[in-house]
Amino acid sequence: MTFRSRAFSGVQPTGNLHLGNYLGAVSRWVPVQDQMETIFCVVDLHAITASFPDPGELQAATREVTAAYIAAGIDPKKSIIFNQSQVPAHSELAWIFNCVARIGWMNRMTQFKDKAGKNRENASLGLLAYPSLMAADILAYKATHVPVGDDQKQHLELTRDIAAKFNNDFAAQVKELGVGVPNPTPSPELPEELFFPMTEPMIAGPATRIMSLRDGTKKMSKSDPSDLSRINLIDDEDTISKKIRKAKTDPEALPSEVDGLAGRPEAGNLVGIYAALAEKTKDEVLQEFGGRQFSEFKPALADLAVAKLTPMTSEMRRYKEEPAEIDSILKDGAERAAAIAEPILKDVRKIIGFLDVR
Ligand code: TRP
Repeated sequence: MTFRSRAFSGVQPTGNLHLGNYLGAVSRWVPVQDQMETIFCVVDLHAITASFPDPGELQAATREVTAAYIAAGIDPKKSIIFNQSQVPAHSELAWIFNCVARIGWMNRMTQFKDKAGKNRENASLGLLAYPSLMAADILAYKATHVPVGDDQKQHLELTRDIAAKFNNDFAAQVKELGVGVPNPTPSPELPEELFFPMTEPMIAGPATRIMSLRDGTKKMSKSDPSDLSRINLIDDEDTISKKIRKAKTDPEALPSEVDGLAGRPEAGNLVGIYAALAEKTKDEVLQEFGGRQFSEFKPALADLAVAKLTPMTSEMRRYKEEPAEIDSILKDGAERAAAIAEPILKDVRKIIGFLDVR
């Protein structure tokens, strides 16, 4: 017995999806579908941690993110696509992980510190526990791989910490019940048999982190007050071109090598976006554009972005007219997801010692 290779990832259904979500996450999931079993989740339980969105907007955003997954090339036949709240295993395992994780671990999470801001006492308990729910998302399926942007690295380390502590604390039970798998990479820190895999992050590519078009040191974000700072997946051709034309740059020409981008965050970001959209390395892009001015590079980038994004956008618009089609994909996905997670949760309850009387 070994852990089956299985990838899990998710995006929150909060408002507009933008280029950063697409290049940093969803577009990277597409090839994984041919490498292993894949599960892609719309994480609506995470979407209520900062504050409760308007119910109608939450529903609309859940369908919109699902449509974006499909338009980007996630195939509902190859992959399981569903929304988190439909599979109770996530909440149940998250509660158990709240009792595995330590408050100190949570307090160290940089995303919590950023999102809670100065008034930490007033943040929801759910915001503090956010990474424990994320660990539950992954481990309810014993996922071995998680493709994400590099901003999620710390959360994945915490997922491994939770898996390690559970594996250690319950090693005897796991062995006795015969529900473990020999540790594929034996180490003194872990028991010989594991219940949860030690999940690997899959972080790669030229633009895992897409920055704001107005400030190359800030992440592209849906919460930025300036709409010019991001390209939304729903933007039309003219809007995409205008935003790229207006993107902040410096007066210098593009360098011929990546080293020349040091200290030029805006230039680095636009080259990174070009590279990711063209599926090239930054070096290759600079071989082509080194020495040229932004007045030449920006129109080329705008053409590329329009060519890559508009077919997706039009498919997303089509799905907007067909909510029933989206809902039936999510229903099928939730059933397939639950069929994997339920037996795992059953073992977890047994390991812990919850009395099963049903
Ligand atoms: N926290 C992730 C983000 O903000 C979203 C997420 C929730 C996720 N659960 C996950 C990503 C599980 C990967 C795996 O992008």
